[in-house]
Amino acid sequence: MKYWIETYGCQMNKAESEALELALNHNKWKEAEDPMEADLTIINTCSVRETAETRIWGRIGYYKKVKKNNPAMTLIITGCMAERLGNKFINKNSPVDKVFGTFTKNKIIDSVLQKTIFDPIFPSGQNFASEDSMPNNQTYEFNKLHTTEGKFKAFVPIMNGCNNFCSYCIVPYVRGRELSRNPEEIFSEIEKLETMGVKEITLLGQNVNSYYYEDKETGEKLDFPFLLKKISQQVSSIEWIRFLTSHPKDLSEKLISVIAESTNICRHIHLPLQSGSDVILKKMNRKYNSDFYNTLIKKIKDNIPDMSITTDIIVGFPGETQEDYNMTYDMINSIKFNEAFTYYYNPREGTNAFNFGDDIPKEEKIKRLSEVIKLQRKISIMKKKEKIGTTFKVLAEGFSKNNTTELIGRTESDEMIVFNAGQDRIGLYNIVKILFLKGNTFIGETVK
Ligand code: SAM
Ligand code: SF4
Ligand code: F3S
Repeated sequence: MKYWIETYGCQMNKAESEALELALNHNKWKEAEDPMEADLTIINTCSVRETAETRIWGRIGYYKKVKKNNPAMTLIITGCMAERLGNKFINKNSPVDKVFGTFTKNKIIDSVLQKTIFDPIFPSGQNFASEDSMPNNQTYEFNKLHTTEGKFKAFVPIMNGCNNFCSYCIVPYVRGRELSRNPEEIFSEIEKLETMGVKEITLLGQNVNSYYYEDKETGEKLDFPFLLKKISQQVSSIEWIRFLTSHPKDLSEKLISVIAESTNICRHIHLPLQSGSDVILKKMNRKYNSDFYNTLIKKIKDNIPDMSITTDIIVGFPGETQEDYNMTYDMINSIKFNEAFTYYYNPREGTNAFNFGDDIPKEEKIKRLSEVIKLQRKISIMKKKEKIGTTFKVLAEGFSKNNTTELIGRTESDEMIVFNAGQDRIGLYNIVKILFLKGNTFIGETVK
């Protein structure tokens, strides 16, 4: 039996898709070379922006055609959009057979193994994602392992869900309330990853800084800085530890010192700013203002001067005046992030901001977005140029495009670099001197 999995959205979805793959492989399923030959197709979906959802509807249209040639294929929709829309995926003309929400992802495997998806007593239209399961995190189960064989980089989810309710964001509704994973399970997954040859891990959570676990038996309490410190002390062949995402309001001085004192926690932090206007930040329910954010950046840079900082920005939030927008622009210009992921505001039904209206015209949103993209591009290039001539540790990921004498890898700041080295260096750390910048990619040479 062959499967095909398509994944949209954030790293959490990617990690969960790999866990699904692992479970299917374990039960002697094989990955199909293309969806035409698959017995089972799973689309792991995202709801964060309308663009993501539109793309997924497009894919469902495509699968309608696939099913004409391959009618025996079962199509499952899972993930955040499945949680949001449930049975709306299923109607007479839809190619979708089953829908599993965020909290029932693990039931996919049971269903596949018990072959209930092929069983007429569970007809198409059976939906496990019920309304009342939506915010109930108790039913969320972490997988034991999220990485298939042969990978050098792995995601390790440490939390699920979010309690912050930023007014624009659908995530708390589709992933439920925060749930911190048992540290024993986290440590045993990381141990296993080391035996599999993984060299870099990324700890995942919508807001990793609010990780908190209290062991009911021992009474031991673990917060994120402590967890990170323990992981940093325990790993041996993993030399790079990353974590995503940090909410500015919860990033503590304790965490900054844990990073500063370690040698294996990457000097890279993703710290979404969203807006530079205090009025908009308040309407976004971000619970910090621009002064707080600037002070935090200063604290980080004072303690860890080589820290690379990336961010997320939303322009065109309801009520964002030209002045509000200018404050965002100015803050991007003064902080000089290494990279910024920029979006224009998308109303999401069910969120608080949905009730604020969507008063910024699309053309204005696009104009603001293209301006911040242009500004950030200039800053990113400038920051990269500063690194030319210096030497970095690089984890080689594979051959560069169309070339078998050049490898492609990433620096500790997660920047792409192409350098000369042979196949034997793939999956290993290499010392590389940066020679020049080609587009967005560094070109370097192996040192020694
Ligand atoms: N938990 C992370 C955080 O707080 O930054 C990430 C959340 S979300 C998966 C990633 C980014 O999508 C957000 O930081 C935000 O910039 C953007 N985003 C979320 N909802 C959005 C919306 N309705 N419209 C536009 N962008 C949105
Ligand atoms: Fe969404 Fe805010 Fe939670 Fe991030 S912190 S997932 S933006 S609600
Ligand atoms: Fe999307 Fe869900 Fe992640 S909405 S960004 S896949 S948590």
